[in-house]
Amino acid sequence: MTRAEFLKMMGAGAAVLALDTVPGASLIQSANAQTTTTPLKKNQERLAFGLPNQEAKVDKPITAIVIGAGARGSVYASYSTEYSKALKIVGVADINTTRRDLMKDLYGIAPEHCFSDWKEVFSLPKFADAVIIATPDNLHYAPCMQALAAGYDVLLEKPIAQTEKECENILKQAKKYGRIVGVCHVLRYSPYFRALKRVLDEGRVGDVLSIQHLEPIRFHHFAHSYVRGNWQSSKKTTPLILAKACHDLDIVRWLLNKPCKQVTAFGDLSFFKRQNEPAGAADRCEDCSVESQCPFSAQRIYVKQHRYLYVFDNLPNDRAAKDIKIKEYLRTTDYGRCVFRSQNDQVDHYVCNMQFEDQVTASMSVEAMTSSGGRKTRIMGTKADIVGDMKTFTLTDFLTGKQYIWDEDISKLPGYEGHAGGDWGIMKDFVLAVANHDEKYLSSTIDVSVESHIMGFKAEISRKRNIIAKM
Ligand SMILES: NC(=O)c1ccc[n+]([C@@H]2O[C@H](COP(=O)([O-])OP(=O)(O)OC[C@H]3O[C@@H](n4cnc5c(N)ncnc54)[C@H](O)[C@@H]3O)[C@@H](O)[C@H]2O)c1
Repeated sequence: MTRAEFLKMMGAGAAVLALDTVPGASLIQSANAQTTTTPLKKNQERLAFGLPNQEAKVDKPITAIVIGAGARGSVYASYSTEYSKALKIVGVADINTTRRDLMKDLYGIAPEHCFSDWKEVFSLPKFADAVIIATPDNLHYAPCMQALAAGYDVLLEKPIAQTEKECENILKQAKKYGRIVGVCHVLRYSPYFRALKRVLDEGRVGDVLSIQHLEPIRFHHFAHSYVRGNWQSSKKTTPLILAKACHDLDIVRWLLNKPCKQVTAFGDLSFFKRQNEPAGAADRCEDCSVESQCPFSAQRIYVKQHRYLYVFDNLPNDRAAKDIKIKEYLRTTDYGRCVFRSQNDQVDHYVCNMQFEDQVTASMSVEAMTSSGGRKTRIMGTKADIVGDMKTFTLTDFLTGKQYIWDEDISKLPGYEGHAGGDWGIMKDFVLAVANHDEKYLSSTIDVSVESHIMGFKAEISRKRNIIAKM
């Protein structure tokens, strides 16, 4: 599938706005901005690590069934189009028949291997090497447990599961059946974070004393996903710290390579609630008398800007016809609702402090009210510090004052649009792990991923009970 076809499949017509219509857009946009390397100044050197080859070289393609053919399932499956010698999609399950049939046609899946509910997959004897679980957050645990019992290796979307106990059960189940579970902490597989990890592991900053990490979600992305959209309810899905920031907990834990000891967290839903609605507001933006003054307006985000259109199935290509269809969706789904009158409970600002072994500390903020996305990270070591923004990072050596700059042009990487190369990066390593029956090809195995999820569950305990939560 070409990029254009992929975008079309996701319901994203306007190429000019395409970046924002693809899932993980905050990352994509920041990554996309880094298309040329910066000229070096005196006393600066480039960290020219190069870009990885995204192709998994295997003797024969591994076979996989996609459970949940939505945004994420489609991105992972698209790896098989680019690298058909590595991966073949041989089954699909989705209760949304449009999405299921799209995947069936795209990958030529046999009708007897196309299902509605995920449970139907396991009514047949095992017919593939692996399953890719990309269903909503509340439907990760049961399919994963069943897939492992049926002898499949699993690529599992984050969050692993909705409770600490369920996460641990999946870990036990993987051990019991001797299967691989790769958790989709896709940031680890992006060239930027791989490079950060590499310089830390090489000891270039000395001992890390502290990390400061910011996840700016962007105001319209937050309104889309965590006020109106799939993750508006922390109870039906998972709290923001897991639904959004489990990636960031994972990255901090991975970079430090030390166990976390205790966590404190604060955060609230302060803004997106009824008491803050402006005079003249209505249940739906189309009926609101102050809609044109609202940055969160559904008309602005979906109709004018064509953002996040992948959530709407069957959009026509013609602009006028498409806008009519989008407006219909805004009348009938939560995406057209006022952000101050939605069914949301996710916090819109969150700070989390963590203490790791050897008194190493980390602070993390997850913020709705930002104009740009991506990640910003500062790493403070005994020999040097690092300042990075997911496009580029600079390491400054305290002794010499010399600066080392990582600024690879990742637009040269196939699939760089997906989490700055992380989506296809994890696919490569997952294919290699399954083909070689060796989980070591993956860096985000279930064993290491459970720990960072537990940090998230503990952060919620701290936030809700106003206590320091011990690991
Ligand atoms: N790794 C990442 O960076 C990342 C990014 C975004 C989302 N996610 C996670 O990926 C998962 C999927 O998110 P998405 O954005 O693709 O959502 P989505 O809604 O686009 O896709 C989920 C699909 O699952 C299908 N589904 C629902 N119930 C089903 C059932 N009983 N049987 C079979 N299919 C069923 C839905 O119809 C839908 O097509 C979520 O858990 C989300 O948190 C991960």
